[in-house]
Amino acid sequence: MQIDRLLQQQGFGTRKGCRNLVRNGRFSIDGEVIDNPFAEIDPTGLKFCVDDREWPYFEKAVILFNKPAGYECSRKPKHHPGIYTLLPPQFVERDIQSVGRLDEDTTGLLILTDDGQLIHALSSPRRKVPKVYRVTLRHPLDEAQVQALLDGVLLNDDPDPAHATAAGIIDSHTLLLTITEGRYHQVKRMLAAVGNRVEALARVAVGGLELPADLPEGQWRWLEAADLERLWSQCP
Ligand code: URA
Repeated sequence: MQIDRLLQQQGFGTRKGCRNLVRNGRFSIDGEVIDNPFAEIDPTGLKFCVDDREWPYFEKAVILFNKPAGYECSRKPKHHPGIYTLLPPQFVERDIQSVGRLDEDTTGLLILTDDGQLIHALSSPRRKVPKVYRVTLRHPLDEAQVQALLDGVLLNDDPDPAHATAAGIIDSHTLLLTITEGRYHQVKRMLAAVGNRVEALARVAVGGLELPADLPEGQWRWLEAADLERLWSQCP
């Protein structure tokens, strides 16, 4: 693939801008500067540097992001900064999008990608991809609340009950809740429906993929091939 095309595809700007970037000696592979933007390179397994930062080549970008509180999952946020301000501009240029959204005050695992098929597969209600939330509650939990969440609760504007597919009590005020849908404020509304109230909400897993313990809030990482396979295997 021609270098200018590769850089454009990977989010480094317009074709013209990418040509200038290369001509200005800002592109290298294995420490060797290549200043001919029309040179052909094999992108398979490629790692390249722009301005001394190394980038792996991915035809489609898929990243894990640990969302902090205080950010909206929107490109045009209304009341708080958007999560995209926390990511490299190359991702925005590539038009990566979050798979589903978390509320402004919810933290935890978000998958972002420019792979439309993956977004569709993970968000399709038909596939019932499990999402696990750690829920911190205002009032002590009891067995009746947990059973009601598993049996299904009615959310005010919807005739279909919302079910948890698993609910594990961690302590009197903490619950690990698994749902397979993504209705508006679903977890908060489910807990309100059983007479409790969510004080803090963190997503800890999506489709069998757990939030890495060593990924701090506000940080992202590429999804490894094995993780990607695991994710696809959840949505056949
Ligand atoms: N349920 C909610 O209520 N909020 C979220 O951010 C995600 C699920």
